[in-house]
Amino acid sequence: MEHDLSLEFLRVVERAAIAAARTMGYGDRHKADDAAVAAMREELADVPIRGRIVIGEGERDEAPMLFIGEEVGRATDRNVPEVDIAVDPLEGTNLCATGSPNALTIVAASERGGLLHAPDIYMEKLAVGPSCRGAVELDAPVADNLRAIARRLERDIEDLVVVVLDRPRHEKLIGGIRAAGARIRLISDGDVAPAIAAAVLGAGVHVVMGIGAAPEGVLAAAALRCLNGEMQARLVADKPELEERLAGMGITDPKRIYTEHELAPGKHIVFACTGVTNGDLLRGVRFFGEGARTHSLLLTLEPHRVRFVDSVHLERQTDVKVRFF
Ligand code: FBP
Repeated sequence: MEHDLSLEFLRVVERAAIAAARTMGYGDRHKADDAAVAAMREELADVPIRGRIVIGEGERDEAPMLFIGEEVGRATDRNVPEVDIAVDPLEGTNLCATGSPNALTIVAASERGGLLHAPDIYMEKLAVGPSCRGAVELDAPVADNLRAIARRLERDIEDLVVVVLDRPRHEKLIGGIRAAGARIRLISDGDVAPAIAAAVLGAGVHVVMGIGAAPEGVLAAAALRCLNGEMQARLVADKPELEERLAGMGITDPKRIYTEHELAPGKHIVFACTGVTNGDLLRGVRFFGEGARTHSLLLTLEPHRVRFVDSVHLERQTDVKVRFF
């Protein structure tokens, strides 16, 4: 991806966030998702790439838009780059439907082959920030990992905040974290936002642990690559049919532990997300008389840039008043 496409992808996630945010609190997660998908697809159609969705809304037969394998972009000439694209048009559909924190719209892109084509199954995940690189192991006892994180962050275990999805499958994990003395933030949905927050100093999240969706794991890994964080992950293939499905995809070792470099191996990674609702790192979309204001995180590996982008989208051209904050 020689061409700097980051601002193009920023436009895509901003537009999807504005569309989704219009449905905030309506209690209808499908309506929220549909709005984000339609807006994202329309914007992606205008990006000068030969794009291929590798993580999307589902397989072709189950998702009419942004399905895996769908070609997107505006291939105007032969110099337009070939790009693999992972999307989560609305990460945290319930969060948007209930107006809860940390709903995001997300796009990650790389040169061909730069993002693992993860199946839509569960994945065990462990995500930490740059200070904790090399200190944790997915299979280590939870207390050992927390001790190592506390040591690296020069604080007590009692000072740590661990984010875990509030699910019955995490009962044992939560018990282990509590027994070790760390504090926990149980979330109802949306494990990408806290994984990114874990890699940003001062964001109030020190580690994300537990089982979430695999596609979201690849998206988080793309962001962590750009933020120098660490992720370890393993697909959860706990039924023979899942193992068969993985084998069919060329994944012969279902127990393999992936690092962020293996989940998102691309040399040229672009990661863009926009807050739909207020969250750890990003403010949600705010509407005002003349338009909307969005807050996004835009990450690129080459050149290595981290940008927090505050955009004012003016819908009416006359008599505009822009506020400082
Ligand atoms: P949505 O697909 O509804 O946006 O949910 C996303 C999510 O909460 C992820 O952040 C998380 O990894 C996964 O779903 C958890 O899955 P489950 O709800 O099946 O435990």
